[in-house]
Amino acid sequence: MCGIVAYVGQQEALPIIIKGLKRLEYRGYDSAGVALIDGNGLNVYKKKGKVSELENHLTSQGDLVSKIGIGHTRWATHGEPNDVNAHPHYSSNEEFAMIHNGIIENYDVLKTDLMNRGYQFHSDTDSEVFMKFIEDIHKNNDCSLEEAVRLALHKVVGAYAIVIMNIAEPDTLIAARKGSPLVIGVGVGEYFLASDATPIIEYTNQVIYLDDYEIAVIRNNNLQIKTIENVETNPYINKLEMELEAIEKGGYEHFMLKEINEQPRSIADCMRGRLDAKNGRLILGGLRDYMNKFQNADRIIITACGTSWHAGLVAEYLFEEFARIPVEVEYASEFRYRNPVISEKDFVIAISQSGETADTLAAIELAKSKGATIFGVCNVVGSSIARATHAGCYTHAGPEIGVASTKAFTAQISVLTMMALMLGYQRGTLTESKYVQLLNELEGIPGKVEKALKMNSNVEKIAEIYKDSRNFLYLGRGYNFPVALEGALKLKEISYIHAEGYPAAEMKHGPIALIDEEMPVVFIATKDTSYEKVVSNIQEVKARKGKIIAVVTEGDTVVRGMADHVLEIPDTAEAFVPLLSVIPLQQLSYHIAVMRGCNVDQPRNLAKSVTVE
Ligand code: F6R
Repeated sequence: MCGIVAYVGQQEALPIIIKGLKRLEYRGYDSAGVALIDGNGLNVYKKKGKVSELENHLTSQGDLVSKIGIGHTRWATHGEPNDVNAHPHYSSNEEFAMIHNGIIENYDVLKTDLMNRGYQFHSDTDSEVFMKFIEDIHKNNDCSLEEAVRLALHKVVGAYAIVIMNIAEPDTLIAARKGSPLVIGVGVGEYFLASDATPIIEYTNQVIYLDDYEIAVIRNNNLQIKTIENVETNPYINKLEMELEAIEKGGYEHFMLKEINEQPRSIADCMRGRLDAKNGRLILGGLRDYMNKFQNADRIIITACGTSWHAGLVAEYLFEEFARIPVEVEYASEFRYRNPVISEKDFVIAISQSGETADTLAAIELAKSKGATIFGVCNVVGSSIARATHAGCYTHAGPEIGVASTKAFTAQISVLTMMALMLGYQRGTLTESKYVQLLNELEGIPGKVEKALKMNSNVEKIAEIYKDSRNFLYLGRGYNFPVALEGALKLKEISYIHAEGYPAAEMKHGPIALIDEEMPVVFIATKDTSYEKVVSNIQEVKARKGKIIAVVTEGDTVVRGMADHVLEIPDTAEAFVPLLSVIPLQQLSYHIAVMRGCNVDQPRNLAKSVTVE
């Protein structure tokens, strides 16, 4: 939530910052701003709305020439989205400007104290309080700005990634992080700072991931990193593997559509080098040192939020079916606060696309403190969750820019499927022949996803019919129950239509009261062990005149005879169906949202990376 970007070097800073902010806009799009230093001093420009509004505003400001700058795109926490609450924030004497991603929890205490001592505040943000707190320390201790930042960080409670620019040192950026991500790009004679690597990749593939409680000072083209205890550290320079084309739309109208269509490749990328069906082998490097713990765990606890939590639910079925280990799937936000019973014999899996979700991070810390082994399934390399876990497997889905998660979900399920198969085989709960048969089937999944995507034009026609519906119900059983939840979430978050997902059999315990001729009901009715039961549920809806949209297995005639619309997906092993059945649901939500004129990639009130609890 909130994206920050900064530059210092020989190039013009503004175009780099604006382009970077556009790449980070998925993190928040309530307002945007930049600060630059030129011959006339420190200038801050900010606007409510998207980065394009800021850009329009900047065109009337004349030539903005500066080799140093900071920029911010905001997801509002404290204070409504408006020009004043936008970042950067100025110090009272207008000598420093700061951008901040995160939340300062003790801001009200600090603010009251500062106000009592004459400070004035223009915005309602915790970030301005943070800025003025640093300013106050700087003034009263007669110390350098860098030292003032260090002292302030000892006093603030909460999460932050900050960058500060200072008119007295026009070649200097001071940055720090705790709990919010910050990446430093190391170029030749230039440095880039950003919330993730996407604004940087175009210029350099050498990056440093700043750690919590570290302060980076870039001065006169030199980088120095120290802890907040003032101990210098030796930063490790990572090589970025990301390609520029992965973060561009590549001819698609929306990132979400691109990402839906990328799934045959992203799933294949996720399995590449890990799945070797021909030789009956699965290699998950991240598990190597932890296989023993995994195999002998009393219980697997999966913790995540949103779509990643849905992937966790699919994994519950997978682990229990193949490895016969009890599984609990926990919303990270509930888990972290309810004093859960966790032991050293628990194997905790944290799933996160962004790797930055605050609740998931807190759940990890809690489970770690109780001695459990924590394994991460993350998409973003070098992210906070990837680094907070004992070990993990990246999903390798590539950057997911659309706020609604699509390819990350199927990549998460792919990793979890490989883990479950490996575990089942090692524990002997899965026979060799079944294991090999499943590996072969799994290898064919990208091709089947490709085929499932071909339903797109049928999906579009259905979207046209139901785009004005006010409610939707999504029903599925077994492996398709989490898919029903995911289908409903996709629809509500990007089209703003109310949608509920339920286990199909639960319908008669309440939701059936909603069904009338106005209610579209999406059934995931593939040929599996609960098929007959789902068919009965379809009949119950039909008897009440509900409109039935059914996702079925290719060649199905029974459901075809009952449903108003059918969408076929290829046949596969029951455990792998979610990888296919979610595809038409992603497409349905996409088309409905487009037809309703919604901003598909940046739905209202949402942000891609939820770094606040
Ligand atoms: C829905 C969506 C969210 C995320 C959730 C967790 O499309 O994207 O529900 O799944 O915010 O995010 P990560 O996976 O980054 O931890």
